Amino acid sequence: MNTQALIDIAKALVADGKGLLAMDESASTCRKRFVEQGIEDTEAMRRAYRELLITTPQLAESVSGLILFDETVHQAKLDGTSFMDVIREAGLIPGIKVDLGAKPLAGHPGETVTEGLDGLRKRLEDYFKLGARFAKWRGVINIGDGLPTDGAIGVNAHALARYAALCQEVGLVPIVEPEVLMDGNHSLARCAEVTERVLRAVFAELDRQGVVLEGMLLKPNMVTSGADAAEQASIKQVADATLAVLLRTVPAAVPGIAFLSGGQSAEVASAHLNDMHQGQALPWAVTFSYGRALQQPALSAWNGVPGNVEAGQKELMHRAVCNRAAALGTYNEGMERP
Ligand code: 13P
Repeated sequence: MNTQALIDIAKALVADGKGLLAMDESASTCRKRFVEQGIEDTEAMRRAYRELLITTPQLAESVSGLILFDETVHQAKLDGTSFMDVIREAGLIPGIKVDLGAKPLAGHPGETVTEGLDGLRKRLEDYFKLGARFAKWRGVINIGDGLPTDGAIGVNAHALARYAALCQEVGLVPIVEPEVLMDGNHSLARCAEVTERVLRAVFAELDRQGVVLEGMLLKPNMVTSGADAAEQASIKQVADATLAVLLRTVPAAVPGIAFLSGGQSAEVASAHLNDMHQGQALPWAVTFSYGRALQQPALSAWNGVPGNVEAGQKELMHRAVCNRAAALGTYNEGMERP
């Protein structure tokens, strides 16, 4: 294992307020997003949309790396240039989602375990050869009546740690993503309690599996009220609760924390991140690794119409600029156009 190379990549991914564009929707998730938008779901449309994203001019000024899905890694621009070449030439670091999705966990109604460990070493080696320099694996935790169970937290933490150790062996920086879902009507305090429990379990497993903390990144949920909760926490309450949990659970050796957006609107996700940078100095870089909160306005503006590519790219760039400002603590509502 070349530890220094891992550390250098991990640091580069979170340097200067830059963050990650998560564009690793699986074929089924991409279908869902396209259908919501009334866009035809074909391989050609997915390719066209991903070409729009990766060819956005100046994206590398605000974004350090892209998280891709397997299909995208093998695609090319209409002129034949491979997407991986386009990404590298733009100065962006390519990464890859390597989990095979959350599947129902036996004996645990309402809970899942993320699969994909079998044969993972070989898949990681292949992605490294294709040019990927980091990877992502998402474990999913549900809050509900009596949920999450220790059983579900344990298996997901274990899988995340085994994935992370394999990544580092191969030379890929693991992004460790334990997502406590926003779904439900739980309170902010309940989300804080569950997120803390999950992160404690994850870091205990990472330690057991010998994962080098300096050569990984954490991609957590923010601590928020449940999406259906009658009382919604304020921007400041979310930022404070999130930092309180992270400061208790994430070792300072971890170079960066890059949040998922998890269903927050684009503007709210920027405001939350910005508010985390208004007070105390933090031991890690704190930035974004958003999917929907970066892409949704771009997807709507494009809407599957070839003539709208530039409009879509403008929307993506706007969100990228806003989120880099948020990661530097200089975002304000005035940056949002009327
Ligand atoms: P969202 O920001 O849309 O939650 O997506 C991030 C991600 O990578 C989920 O795995």
